[in-house]
Amino acid sequence: MTTVSDRIAGSAGGDQLGRGLRDLRISVTDRCNFRCCYCMPRDVFGTDFPFMKHAELLSFEEIARLAKVFAGLGVRKLRLTGGEPLLRHGLEHLVAQLVAIDGVDEVALTTNGSLLAAKAQVLREAGLARVTVSLDSLDAPTFRAMSDVKIPVSRVMAGIAAAAAAGLTPVKINTVVKRGVNDGQHILDLAAFGREQGYTVRFIEFMDVGASNGWRLDEVVPAAEIVTAISTRWPLEPVDPTYLGEVAARYRYLDGAGEIGVITSITQPFCGTCTRARLSAKGELYTCLFANLGHDLRALLRGGASDAEIEQRIQGLWQGRRDRYSAQRTTATVGLPKVEMSYIGG
Ligand code: GTP
Ligand code: 5AD
Ligand code: SF4
Ligand code: SF4
Repeated sequence: MTTVSDRIAGSAGGDQLGRGLRDLRISVTDRCNFRCCYCMPRDVFGTDFPFMKHAELLSFEEIARLAKVFAGLGVRKLRLTGGEPLLRHGLEHLVAQLVAIDGVDEVALTTNGSLLAAKAQVLREAGLARVTVSLDSLDAPTFRAMSDVKIPVSRVMAGIAAAAAAGLTPVKINTVVKRGVNDGQHILDLAAFGREQGYTVRFIEFMDVGASNGWRLDEVVPAAEIVTAISTRWPLEPVDPTYLGEVAARYRYLDGAGEIGVITSITQPFCGTCTRARLSAKGELYTCLFANLGHDLRALLRGGASDAEIEQRIQGLWQGRRDRYSAQRTTATVGLPKVEMSYIGG
């Protein structure tokens, strides 16, 4: 039951574990021009994979309308994701609509960076606050092995540089670490790159999202190991979260050369403060990254529902939410059917 004060605060109220709704991650396409081994392995996401058809995708106007309803329920942060969000033509027009919504403090973007050099300036002008770029190694063969495409790592680096030049800062870099593939020296090289250029590199524990990435626990490099390795070279100290529910645990270099983050979904789950909802490109609401089923909001949108009816539906779903997958992960949960990462954007 929503209290009067909740309504005044424009909040959805807490879920079943007392967590508020503060962040909305919006996937704008399920397509990607990369085939990262941990996300869209080529043998599963091949040429005949049934990607969403254009008419199935929410239009920018539909996305903006939903985002406005979410903002009325307490969402303050929006993040555009994919697949690869920059494959969606004219994304800056969506950004412009989203930044104009009352209550939205920040619109950010998570991208693979390959199309960013050409887009950084227009995105900034449209009001995008900052970007996070996925980059798993600076070493060309390793980058290629992990992204499984011919696009060179230099193109991603150019995208990162363009984002920084356009003021989409702080630029963050997401690195998914796989044991024996991009651990060890790759981590130190990325850390050095971040220190030199002023980027915040976040190392992500390889997760068992979806059902196609062949996840194995022995391929996970625990974040503590990463922090120790970097700290041995350049001493680090922990820093408090920037906001409640921040996904990455932060560490700063004692010599003042910036900070890193680690995302510890496997070794130290953070479900207790999870304030994130996810919207798929065809308008389904997911209340967890590891959920199996989404809740269709597009049918409401296209069926003539009012904003108040949509709000009521979202609020009901949020208030019933009990998800805490990472905290409950066992060898048995790994094989459960789960939505693919490329479908809801991580
Ligand atoms: P900031 O706004 O800069 O704090 O970024 P963010 O961490 O919210 O966004 P980003 O897309 O960079 O998230 C980093 C990665 O952390 C994601 O791509 C996922 O791999 C992982 N992640 C984000 N949210 C969750 C979550 O709710 N649960 C789990 N298990 N992993 C998450
Ligand atoms: N484990 C951890 N992180 C992942 N990402 C995609 N798949 C996985 C996975 N299996 C990350 C990407 C990107 C973000 C959207 O999610 O590196 O930065
Ligand atoms: Fe594409 Fe990002 Fe998935 Fe890689 S992690 S395949 S870049 S959506
Ligand atoms: Fe949130 Fe689900 Fe991730 Fe836990 S596993 S932090 S509930 S998205």
